[in-house]
Amino acid sequence: MPVIGMVRYALRWCNLRGFFRHSSREFASMSETENAVTGNLYAGLSLYYDQFCAEVDYAGQCAFAARVFAGFARSGGRDYLDLACGTGQHLQEMTRLGFVPTGLDNSPAMLAQAQARCPMALLLLCDLAEFDQLAGYDLISCFLYSIHYSHPLSQFAETLKRAWHALKPGGVFVFNTVDARGARDEHKVVTRVHAADATLTFTSGWHYRGQGEVLDLRLSIYRESAGSTQTWHDQHTMTALTIPELERLLLANGFEVTLLEHDYERLAPWGGDSFNAIVVATKPQ
Ligand SMILES: C[S@@+](CC[C@H](N)C(=O)[O-])C[C@H]1O[C@@H](n2cnc3c(N)ncnc32)[C@H](O)[C@@H]1O
Repeated sequence: MPVIGMVRYALRWCNLRGFFRHSSREFASMSETENAVTGNLYAGLSLYYDQFCAEVDYAGQCAFAARVFAGFARSGGRDYLDLACGTGQHLQEMTRLGFVPTGLDNSPAMLAQAQARCPMALLLLCDLAEFDQLAGYDLISCFLYSIHYSHPLSQFAETLKRAWHALKPGGVFVFNTVDARGARDEHKVVTRVHAADATLTFTSGWHYRGQGEVLDLRLSIYRESAGSTQTWHDQHTMTALTIPELERLLLANGFEVTLLEHDYERLAPWGGDSFNAIVVATKPQ
């Protein structure tokens, strides 16, 4: 597998065929959108991504991950892999917390921003279900529900399996998850950002049809400036499953599983009443 780039920066082209198939599927879904300029938040619109996430508390999430690591990891090192690393916000913060960063993403545009933000990170251009590191990491994370991008369910299960192989014994995989039964349109998130020459409004919302393994994520960007509005719509196909189904998959892979409430300020056991959770999956020593 060729590695391109400098010592601290590598783009690994693992399974190019799969990657381009993924891209064209996204484009097909976007071009069906009517009455809007269409785009892809992780490609042509990637420069908007950090504004889209202006209200995400990356430092808080990383402090949480470090507390999980201190409480659960027994592998001895600080080698860190962020799956679906996007523009590298977690990589940068985890480096500051003393971890040795590697990021993985299947978007060259997002990785280009991660490289600029965190030049010391090793970056892998790769699908979530296709990385093949062996016992290389003490901590693996996957934030912002991005593990659900592994679709269909067979790919999702493959991603869990690869994470298990990529962890050192005693290492920890931490990620957040949404139970499809709770993914409803009314949970739309709206973020508004005032830039010098325009106001940007970002919306995102899940849509679950009530059955099957497809979870749609619908994103929109509205850019208002000088009396005109540009609109982009983007739809992403993700994997729907329930939290108990996810737990069974993890256990089947050999993980020890702890479910926590979706609260980055404390480590509280998941009570079973909410439809999202933070998963701590430990590889036994
Ligand atoms: C919602 S963003 C999250 C980025 C980052 N984790 C954060 O919290 O800001 C999802 C990321 O997943 C990446 N992605 C989507 N599908 C993927 C796949 N199948 N394999 C690898 N990366 C994928 C996208 O390119 C994007 O950077």
